[in-house]
Amino acid sequence: METRSQWGTRAGFIFAAVGSAIGLGNIWRFPAVAYENGGGAFLIPYLFALLTAGIPILILEFTMGHKYRGSAPLTYRRMNKKTEGIGWWAVLVAFVISTYYSVIIAWAMSYSVFSFNLNWGDDTEGFLFGDYLQASDAGEIGSLVPGVLIPLILVWVVTLGILFKGVKKGIEIANRIFIPALVVIFLIIVIRAITLPGAMEGLEAFFTPDFSKILDPDVWVAAYGQIFFSLSIAFAIMITYSSYLPKKSDLTNNAFITGFGNSSFEILAGIGVFGILGFMAAQQGVPVSEVVSSGVGLAFVVFPQIINQFPGLNELFGFLFFASLVLAGLTSLMSITETYVAGLVDKFKISRAKAVAFGGGLAAIISLLFATQGGINFLDAADYFINQFGVALLGLVEVILIAWILREVKNLKDHANEISDIKLGAWWTVSLSVITPIVLGFMMYQLLMQNILKQFETDTGNYSNYPDAFILWGGWAVAIGALVVGILMAFTKWKKPSVDEEDSYKKEA
Ligand code: ALA
Repeated sequence: METRSQWGTRAGFIFAAVGSAIGLGNIWRFPAVAYENGGGAFLIPYLFALLTAGIPILILEFTMGHKYRGSAPLTYRRMNKKTEGIGWWAVLVAFVISTYYSVIIAWAMSYSVFSFNLNWGDDTEGFLFGDYLQASDAGEIGSLVPGVLIPLILVWVVTLGILFKGVKKGIEIANRIFIPALVVIFLIIVIRAITLPGAMEGLEAFFTPDFSKILDPDVWVAAYGQIFFSLSIAFAIMITYSSYLPKKSDLTNNAFITGFGNSSFEILAGIGVFGILGFMAAQQGVPVSEVVSSGVGLAFVVFPQIINQFPGLNELFGFLFFASLVLAGLTSLMSITETYVAGLVDKFKISRAKAVAFGGGLAAIISLLFATQGGINFLDAADYFINQFGVALLGLVEVILIAWILREVKNLKDHANEISDIKLGAWWTVSLSVITPIVLGFMMYQLLMQNILKQFETDTGNYSNYPDAFILWGGWAVAIGALVVGILMAFTKWKKPSVDEEDSYKKEA
C-alpha cells in the first residue's frame, strides 16, 4: 500500500503552516482593514476572533487532518460519509482563491522589477490602472495584458514546480528558505519605517481606538473574515497540511505557534505600513487618514508614491517591499494549491505529478481571466464574495457540523490531548460549540441580508457599486459555483482500491 507523504521534521511543518498563514492577507490586506474598521479598536474584535475562532479552529483542523489522515474531502468523509461534499466545497473555495491570488503575486513580481527604476513615475494610480493593468470597465474582459501574463506564468511555474517535488522535498524545503528570508526582509522594512520622520503619527493613527466602531457588526465581520483568511482556516489548507504529520505530533502547541506567529507578523506589518503612511502624511502636510487606502490601492498605488519620497535607497526599499509580497504570497499559494492536488490524489488515486498538472494547470488557465484588462474588477468581486460566502460561511458550517451535528468535539479533543503538551479544556469546547457559531451565525445573517437587500435597493448599491449583472456573475455565481461543484464532486466515484477501506488510515497513523 502506498503510504502518505510526510513532513521531514516538526520545524518543517511549522514553517509550512506559518508560510501558508503569512501571505498577502497580512501585508496587503490587514493594515487597511484594521484602519478602516476603527484602528486600535479593531484589535479588540480581532483578538476576540483570534482566541475564540482562529486558534480553536486551527487546533480543530490540525487534529482532523492528523486523526483522519486525508485531504479535506477524505477527512470529512472519514468523519461521516455524508459530509464529503463540505470538504470539496472547501477545496473549491481554495481553487477559486488560487486563481486570483496568483495574479496579485504576479503584480508584485512586476513591481519588484519596476522598483529598480521607479518606473511607476509620479502618477502611481494612473500607472497602475492605465500603463500596467490597462484596466477596462467592470464586466468587460478585453485582451490579455502581457505585463501581467508573463509574471503570472512564472508564478505558476515556480509554484507547480515546488508542488511537483512533493511535500518534504518541495513544500518543506521552499518554506524553510522563503520564510526566514521573508522575516529578515520584513524586519529591515519595519525598522526603516519606524525611524522615518512622521512615523509616530502613523502609529498613533493605527493604534488609537475608535470605540464608536466596536458595536458595528461590519467591524466584527471584517475581524472574523481577516482571521479566517489570514490563518488559512476553513478552506481546506490546514487539514491537508496536518494530514502529512507523523503520528507523534504536538498538535495544540503547533497551532499556538502558527496562530501567534501569524498574528505577530500581521501586527508587525501594521506597524511597518502605518509608520510609512505617517511619513507620507508628514511629507504632504495632511492627516494620516488622507493617505490610507485599502488593498490594491495601498500596496500598488500608495506604496510606490511613498517609495518615490523615501529619503534614500528608494529602489532598494521598493524592491524589498514587493519581494516580501512575492515571498509571502508564494508560500501561501503553494498551500492553497496543495488542497486540490491532495484531493485529486486521494479520490482518483492518480499520481502527484498528474494531480499537479491537471489541478494546477486548470487553475493557471482560469487565472488568465484575471490577467485581462477587465481582470482587476473580476478579482475584486471574486475576492469579496468568495471570502464572505466561501471562507467565512464555511467556518460557520464547519463548527456547527462538528460541534452540533456530528458531535465530534470530544473525540477530537481526546485525540489532540493524547499527543499534545497543552491540554484542551472548556475554552476550546465553548469556543467551538457556543461562541463561534453564535457570533458567526449572527454575522452571516447580517451579511446575507445586506448583500441581498442591496440587490433591490438602488440607493445603497452593490458591493463597490458594481452593476447588478456583474455582481451576479463575478460575485454570486463564483461563490455559489464553488458550493455546487463541491457537492457534485462528492458524487463522483472513489477509485479502487478504495480509500474508504475505512480503517486503513488507523493502522497507517
Ligand atoms: N493565509 C493566506 C494569507 O494571509 C492565504 O494571504
